[in-house]
Amino acid sequence: MCGITARVGTDDSLDALLASLKNLEYRGYDSAGIAVQNGTGIKVSKHEGEVAQLESQLTSGDVFGEVGIGHTRWSTHGPPTNENAHPHTGCQGRVAAVHNGIIDNYTTLREGLQSRGHEFTSDTDTEVIPHLVEERLADGMAPEAAFRETVAQLDGSYAIAIIIDDDPTVYATRNGSPLVIGVGETANYLASDVPAFLEFTDQVIYLEDDDIAVITPDDYRISDGNGSWVPRPVETVDWDPEDAEKGKYDHYMLKEIHEQPTSLRQTLHGRIDGDDVILEEFPPGTFEGITRVQFVACGTSYHAAMYGEGLLSEWGVDANSFIASEYAAYPAPVDENTLVIGVTQSGETADTLEALQRARDRGARTLALTNVIGSTAARTCDDALFIRAGPEIGVAATKTFSSQVATLVLLGERLVRDVTGEPTDEHSQRLAALESLPGDVETVIENSQAAAVSRRCLGDTGHFFVGRGSAYSVALEGALKFKEITYEHAEGFAAGELKHGPLALVTPETPIFAIGTGRHQNRLESNVREIQTRGAPVIAVAPRTDSELADTADEFLPVPATHSALVAILANVQLQLVAYHAANEMDRSIDKPRNLAKSVTVE
Ligand code: F6R
Repeated sequence: MCGITARVGTDDSLDALLASLKNLEYRGYDSAGIAVQNGTGIKVSKHEGEVAQLESQLTSGDVFGEVGIGHTRWSTHGPPTNENAHPHTGCQGRVAAVHNGIIDNYTTLREGLQSRGHEFTSDTDTEVIPHLVEERLADGMAPEAAFRETVAQLDGSYAIAIIIDDDPTVYATRNGSPLVIGVGETANYLASDVPAFLEFTDQVIYLEDDDIAVITPDDYRISDGNGSWVPRPVETVDWDPEDAEKGKYDHYMLKEIHEQPTSLRQTLHGRIDGDDVILEEFPPGTFEGITRVQFVACGTSYHAAMYGEGLLSEWGVDANSFIASEYAAYPAPVDENTLVIGVTQSGETADTLEALQRARDRGARTLALTNVIGSTAARTCDDALFIRAGPEIGVAATKTFSSQVATLVLLGERLVRDVTGEPTDEHSQRLAALESLPGDVETVIENSQAAAVSRRCLGDTGHFFVGRGSAYSVALEGALKFKEITYEHAEGFAAGELKHGPLALVTPETPIFAIGTGRHQNRLESNVREIQTRGAPVIAVAPRTDSELADTADEFLPVPATHSALVAILANVQLQLVAYHAANEMDRSIDKPRNLAKSVTVE
């Protein structure tokens, strides 16, 4: 879990490296550092805390260089201290390295190096890399060969970039962690993710596992583990650089909530034609023979997966959703007629990748439903379907949840037609409602009273979210969003489960958000009355037309009436806003909540 970046130019790289690191902070932000070289040796500057702290120690002007690497860290080996911050150097200071991932065999490598006289200054697994490269350089090896031989000794998952003191080149490789080259006009770039350098270039090359990249100011070479040259296409990223910046909003999260009408339009663009679903990647018949669907995912993506499971089950497809880390522990039965769908915004979540690997090993067909083209999930699954939500920087997933669910509705339509041979009843109304979804989300955002409602939640002891059917997954998602950015206790329940235990928690200090979809309404209303009897305030989030719920509840956050399968997506937007405004009132670190990171690439 970390972000790495590099720049190789003919002018000073420092400012560009710092800008890239700021763009990568969503990947980790407990320490940051850079190393540059300008032909007079390597200079390293690093600091615990955010990139701003690093920047403030770089004002003297004595750290500059045309070639540089940078790192923003989320600790795995060793606490977040100045010593453990990257880049790391070898004993002679000839080589500096940055790394994202985990070197599984670092203890053995470190002991070997120590027995040969190397002294270590950090607790990290990464530090073995510069020592190993320096050892080979000392043996007289050329830089590329020294790097290649070092990489061959590493076990684990990694993206690595190094610089060497007298060499205007960045050497990089990856295995299981993302790495992208940015091809610029006067300099070349490298990073864990495109937004890092998007303000400098939109020409990108996604590296594959085991690629070795040798990057100079005006050239790059990519070879495989054996040293054979491998062609990798240069792709144009059509994200506007503005997309990756905060614009007029105080926080990325708020910006991304407001982007949902646009991102949903992108998700749906060209994929609905009257009664037909058009998924270029999956023409009719693609899923013939599939008898069972399993979803694997984590966190917010798992809630989207639950939503997908509900849709498919209701439409007659055998479907189940699994928390990815549990699936890896207790894999469910699969065969060659099972489709295992990994729902993952980043496409890099280690637990989800492992679950997909388990499924693949046992003969299932795998599909990545992801936001990131070129991500590990997209490249390693048999198929990939992109949610097209654009980059999401806020750690709390918002617009990607909406786009995941909208994409799952489309995929569900394709699947159900292939698996059962029939379009679902109501499918044309559902597709029409899906086309109206971006506008409905716009209506929610423009009229939301979530800020006022969130103020009444301040100081309460707990916050509960309940719903039935598709609203249950949104109850879980509403609670996750609330707790992760407010740091207050929040929990989601299936509304029917309240009386089986959770009701004991309900007091006048525990507001309850009751999410109605227009289905199972009588039961939800009786749950609401159970809650009110215990004195808890109820905030109903439901279609405007649901007058019964609106009248019973203490507060009402309405959403436009639409197909019942889609109401919960609209309710979720209200809950995103409630969480955002409550966290903002509490002055929380909304875009980078404590202890969390955007992309969880460790198990
Ligand atoms: C919460 C959140 C996380 C992610 C989870 C999976 O707001 O963003 O719960 O949903 O870490 O990440 P992806 O979707 O990248 O696999």
